[in-house]
Amino acid sequence: MHRAAEVVIREIVGGSVGTGEFLKQLAEISMKGNEYSLSDKARWEATMSHFQQEFSGFDGERSVFFVAEREEKVVGFARASVHPGRPRQWWLNGLEVLQEHRGAGVGTRLTRARIKALSKRKVGSIWAHIRKSNIPSLVVAHKVGLRILTDEAETITGKHDDSGRFWFLRMELPGA
Ligand SMILES: CC(C)(COP(=O)(O)OP(=O)(O)OC[C@H]1O[C@@H](n2cnc3c(N)ncnc32)[C@H](O)[C@@H]1OP(=O)(O)O)[C@@H](O)C(=O)NCCC(=O)NCCS
Repeated sequence: MHRAAEVVIREIVGGSVGTGEFLKQLAEISMKGNEYSLSDKARWEATMSHFQQEFSGFDGERSVFFVAEREEKVVGFARASVHPGRPRQWWLNGLEVLQEHRGAGVGTRLTRARIKALSKRKVGSIWAHIRKSNIPSLVVAHKVGLRILTDEAETITGKHDDSGRFWFLRMELPGA
C-alpha cells in the first residue's frame, strides 16, 4: 500500500485542465472503478467523450474538480456540482480512487478538499447519494461530516429512492 503522504491533492481550475493524457488518466480510473475492461473500445470512447465534454469550457463555476496525484500520475479524482436551479445546494457526485491506492486516506482527503472549496462559496448544504452497500464511501462521507437522512421528508426529493438501495446524506455548512 502507498502512503497517503506521497499523494498530492490538486484542484483543477478553469483553463488548467491540461493535456489529453490527463483526460486519459481520468478515463482509466473511471473505467476501472466501474469494473469495465480497458479493452472495451466503445465504453472507452464514451468515457473519454464524457470527460472531454465535462472539461470543455470548464470554469469551476458550477462544479469543482480535484485530483489526487502521485509522482504526477492521477490516482484518484473527485467532483462536486451545483444542484440544477438551487445554487446553494451542491452534490458530491464523483469520487474514485485507484484500487491499489485505496484505504490510505486519499478518498477522505479528496472529499475534505471539496468541502473546503465549497465552504469558501455561498453554499448552504452539501449532499451525497450513496449506495447502502458502499461501506468505504459511507465511511468517508461520515468522517467528513455528512449524515445519513433517515427521515424522507428531509431528503431533496422527499423520498430516499425508488429502489431503497441508496442513502441520501447531507451536511449544512457553518454560517449557511
Ligand atoms: C469510496 C472510495 C473513493 C474510498 O477511497 P479511499 O481512498 O479508500 O478512502 P479512505 O482511505 O480515505 O477511507 C476509506 C475508509 O473506509 C474504511 N472501510 C473500507 N472498507 C470498510 C469496511 N468493509 N468496513 C468498515 N470500514 C471500511 C477504511 O478503513 C477507511 O476508513 P479509515 O481511514 O477510518 O480506516 C474508494 O473505495 C473507491 O474509489 N471506490 C469505488 C468508487 C466509489 O464507490 N465511489 C463512491 C461513489 S458514491
